[in-house]
Amino acid sequence: MNTTYQNNTISEAPPTPIKHRNADPNTSITNKLLPLAAFFIAFVTVMTILIVYMDHTAMKHYQFQVNMSQDNEFSRVSQDNPLLITYIREVHLTPAIEPNHKLINTEETISNDTLFVIRLLEDKRNGVFVEAGAYNDGKSSKTNWLEKKLNWRGLLIQPDPRHYFSLKRHNRLKSQAIHACVSPMPYPKEVTMHQEYDGVKINSIHANSIEENDGFNTRVKCFPIYSLVLAMNVSHIDYLSLESGGTELQVLETIPFQKVHINVISVHLLVSDVEKETIKQFLAMKNYAFIQNFNSTYIFKIK
Ligand SMILES: *[C@@H]1O[C@H](CO)[C@@H](O)[C@H](O)[C@H]1NC(C)=O
Ligand SMILES: *[C@@H]1O[C@H](CO)[C@@H](O)[C@H](O)[C@H]1NC(C)=O
Ligand SMILES: *[C@@H]1O[C@H](CO)[C@@H](O)[C@H](O)[C@H]1NC(C)=O
Ligand SMILES: *[C@@H]1O[C@H](CO)[C@@H](O)[C@H](O)[C@H]1NC(C)=O
Repeated sequence: MNTTYQNNTISEAPPTPIKHRNADPNTSITNKLLPLAAFFIAFVTVMTILIVYMDHTAMKHYQFQVNMSQDNEFSRVSQDNPLLITYIREVHLTPAIEPNHKLINTEETISNDTLFVIRLLEDKRNGVFVEAGAYNDGKSSKTNWLEKKLNWRGLLIQPDPRHYFSLKRHNRLKSQAIHACVSPMPYPKEVTMHQEYDGVKINSIHANSIEENDGFNTRVKCFPIYSLVLAMNVSHIDYLSLESGGTELQVLETIPFQKVHINVISVHLLVSDVEKETIKQFLAMKNYAFIQNFNSTYIFKIK
């Protein structure tokens, strides 16, 4: 009996609160919804904070990328500044051969335009060249033959890191190389190069291209041709081969022709006929005669 009584007491006691809850449906719904509402508010708050934070971070990241892609123009450094020349010579000019790299054995071929230049220079031996936009991938080099067969030496200029390292694997023992671009201004610059698998674009990132994820960006210094010639410490250039992705006229305009003697110039021109005429007229003013072109390679010689 004792146990029964106890059981009864226990079983009777709990129903009272349940009955009490059922008695007031409003309170019951509120009580049920309260945790839900609290959860919802917390969720919305956290998500809002997260979204605002992510937005802010993305904005800062974007700003940073834009800031970092801006061209630095060192317009107060003149192209013959002795400190600039020493800096280029001591820091940037390197032997055009990387001793630890495996050499690439390529057949030494000669293109028609190089053959033509050699004839113009009457098979000159021990000459000096500057090759801006030097390649050894795909296209044949414009100066390899001169160096290997006629004992020339010179400077190979290449802003694309892949081409630059490829260049240094072709046994160019007599020459120097520089990972840089030629400046379209008579002072040094630092620019961002957008690198794609099929080539490069040299300029700062613009708002509409910043999201492009194909390829990668690198920073590269640009030096005026005249600064590079001074850093080479040579008195004259027999052959200047220039390819700079569309800035050829501006690059030529930076050269003080009265101070540096250049015998033959070849310019790679993929521009309109009007612009080609402008370049011909500009070089004519500087005493260069247009001789002949081989497709997009235009050859000029001093009169
Ligand atoms: C970007 O540059 C501007 C102006 O130079 C500067 O105020 C801002 O803090 C920079 N932003 C970042 C993320 O570096
Ligand atoms: C070079 O010129 C010759 C004719 O003089 C021509 O047959 C040949 O196709 C040219 N080679 C190239 C690579 O343009
Ligand atoms: C530049 O060349 C001259 C001789 O042509 C030489 O006397 C001079 O030491 C060279 N300067 C440097 C910095 O190499
Ligand atoms: C011009 O280019 C075409 C194709 O790239 C080539 O077949 C031709 O031989 C070139 N001509 C000259 C004169 O180099």
